[in-house]
Amino acid sequence: MKKIVIQGGYKLHGSINISGSKNASLPILASTLLIDKKIILENVPIVKDILTMVNLLETLGKKIKIKKNKLEITSKNKKKYFAKYDLVKTMRAGILVIGPLLAKFNSAKVSLPGGCAIGARPVDLHLDFLSKSGYDNKILKGYVVSKKINLKDKICYTFKKISVGATENLIIAASLAKGTTILKNCATEPEIKDLIDFLNKTGCKINYQSNRTIKIIGVPKINETNYTVMFDRIEAGTYLIAAALTEGKIKIKNVDPKIIKTEIKILRKIGAKISLKSNEIRITGKKKIKNLNIKTAPYPGFPTDLQAQIMVLLCKAQKKSEIQENIFENRFMHVAELNRMGAKIYTKGNKAVIGGGTTFLGAELMATDLRAS
Ligand code: EPU
Repeated sequence: MKKIVIQGGYKLHGSINISGSKNASLPILASTLLIDKKIILENVPIVKDILTMVNLLETLGKKIKIKKNKLEITSKNKKKYFAKYDLVKTMRAGILVIGPLLAKFNSAKVSLPGGCAIGARPVDLHLDFLSKSGYDNKILKGYVVSKKINLKDKICYTFKKISVGATENLIIAASLAKGTTILKNCATEPEIKDLIDFLNKTGCKINYQSNRTIKIIGVPKINETNYTVMFDRIEAGTYLIAAALTEGKIKIKNVDPKIIKTEIKILRKIGAKISLKSNEIRITGKKKIKNLNIKTAPYPGFPTDLQAQIMVLLCKAQKKSEIQENIFENRFMHVAELNRMGAKIYTKGNKAVIGGGTTFLGAELMATDLRAS
């Protein structure tokens, strides 16, 4: 089993470039299934989920060369529309290939991803839209088997719940469709804007209208392009929290502070000193950490992907804090691990009450979900 050994008790100092975003790269990579021509993606973080997506795309007919953080994506002659369980089960973003496969081939067979460490994570929202736009979807032996029956020229669809992945999947599915698609109650995460910017650079016609509404005018074909993926806002937030936690002083580079306004506001409230430039952030952590109540919410709210990290910081506050997790039903696996290090946290439903004044002591711990780990 892999392990990481951490010698504690240090303050963070120095400067670091933030990587490209995993969660922007994954849908952009999936969307390349729409495109036969060469695509070059830069600033892609080479983490496990990206390599899994690369494997998945290669089984579907793509040829991908990785050189540091640059991916060159071309198409083989033999294309497939069958996404195997082995690849999709380890990474839920695998379901993102169903949209482009249907748009390109009118048929797809994609494994259902199953549950994961942070919740059941169903895909009903992805499939509901596909049914309403004219695809027949059946669940057969753990796979979603979809095919075109009667595609509609004009679709106006309202998501019954905000979902990042479903918004991305459906934008991709609609990009090559005949006619216009209007999606309402969409997620507005920056990674979705990055996907839209990428697709528009290839010749797609997608734009955000007011109020979580996206309009997609289908185009018959899309072109080759080069694109640089946005920074990873969760990695940026994690470093900022780590500096605040250790009374450190750091500079993070290759970021856009406007995108993480909520996180910056919260860290300032907690007591950190922060200064901003157009593409860098400096932070100095202070000894006194103020308690705060935080609720996770879809963007522009506080991200669920930083919930565990901010919880660690609030363990050090002078008084009790509360966190309400509103996105995933099981994203408190880290609580028991933090308590093993001396934290005083209890949960009730989707709320965690965090006692302040913790002095953490090193312990053997289990790494659960990526962000919490
Ligand atoms: N949901 C449904 N039905 C669906 C889809 C989602 O009920 O068809 C529910 C989910 O179960 C969840 C909520 O809607 O309770 C929101 O899920 P969403 O679809 O927005 O999440 P996702 O697309 O599966 C992405 C990120 C997650 C991040 C969430 C929320 C990627 C690859 N993953 O997941 O990132 O937590 O949005 O912001 O973009 C991570 O990077 O560690 C991570 C988990």
